[in-house]
Amino acid sequence: MRVGVLTSGGDCPGLNAVIRAVVRKAERHYGDDVLGFFDGWRGVIDDQWMTVDVDTMRGTLPRGGTILGTSRIQPYMFDDGCDRVRANLERLGVDGVIVIGGEGSLACANQLQKDGVANVIGVPKTIDNDIYATEMTFGFETAVEIATEAIDRLHTTAESHDRVMVVEVMGRHVGHIATWAGLAGGATRTLIPEEPFDIREVADAIRVRHGGKSYASIVVVAEGAQPIPGTLDVPEPGVDEFGHRRLGGIGSIVASEIERLTGYETRVTVLGHVQRGGTPTAFDRVLCSWFGIAAIDAFHDQAWGTMVALQDAKVVRVPLEVAIGELKPVEPDLWAVAKAFFA
Ligand code: F6P
Repeated sequence: MRVGVLTSGGDCPGLNAVIRAVVRKAERHYGDDVLGFFDGWRGVIDDQWMTVDVDTMRGTLPRGGTILGTSRIQPYMFDDGCDRVRANLERLGVDGVIVIGGEGSLACANQLQKDGVANVIGVPKTIDNDIYATEMTFGFETAVEIATEAIDRLHTTAESHDRVMVVEVMGRHVGHIATWAGLAGGATRTLIPEEPFDIREVADAIRVRHGGKSYASIVVVAEGAQPIPGTLDVPEPGVDEFGHRRLGGIGSIVASEIERLTGYETRVTVLGHVQRGGTPTAFDRVLCSWFGIAAIDAFHDQAWGTMVALQDAKVVRVPLEVAIGELKPVEPDLWAVAKAFFA
């Protein structure tokens, strides 16, 4: 068969590891050709691609980013986008496309399948870990490791100076990274989008903690965390060219308010894209390899319109329609564990 593969949306550690796994089994087991489209759907629309084989993928397992490039471009953004995708795939003899992407990219893939534009198989990617129907997306574990290491480092400097350190991590709609890294790093408080916060209550808790002679505090804030309405002014974020809200900045607002309310020196560190860069952890490399192999198997079974997913320690197939139906919030039981350690 002729297999198309693309990476779409924001990048994430492990994209190359997935492509490598797809290519490995496609070439060595099934005898397929694999075409890698550049910059997500842009490459399909503009007919820009390269052949990817086992040799091309050598050395890429630990490499961050994506050798194919990525973008948020989708065929539905152009009047003739879907026609061009259909025509190019047909002319190239591509039987289907393995789409490695997050919620937006998978929703688009689902629509393209439903509209008969392309046969698709989805692979769930995002450091945010917010895709429903999979217990974990790849990239998440790496991001948690990076954030935890940063918190550990900030802890030692916070202790030396008797400071409060606010660490802003990614997480647009959900607080998985914040919850996991906060727990692993011993945060005094963690603020997540799922649970609007009251900054006065946070400041009071820090004051009590410091009064009890604990001088260093770490507050982890997910970039999408929101105050309880009316408790703190947070300006609306700008949007990028795709109408995607450009988050980042809540950490500074939280830090200056904690300093104002407590009088304790409070500093902020925004981890930002550091969490998305560099080499994937061993866990993510294994998950990527498993997802990639499962995706090419699904391709050969012509299980079009499905996504591979981790469920009960197995990789299974779920309909894309189900996977994109809703976002996956932080598990309440885990959040209760995180809260048990709050000041
Ligand atoms: O969805 C993954 C993510 O890393 C979010 O956590 C973050 O808000 C967003 O992507 C940032 O995207 P960009 O690379 O466009 O700034």
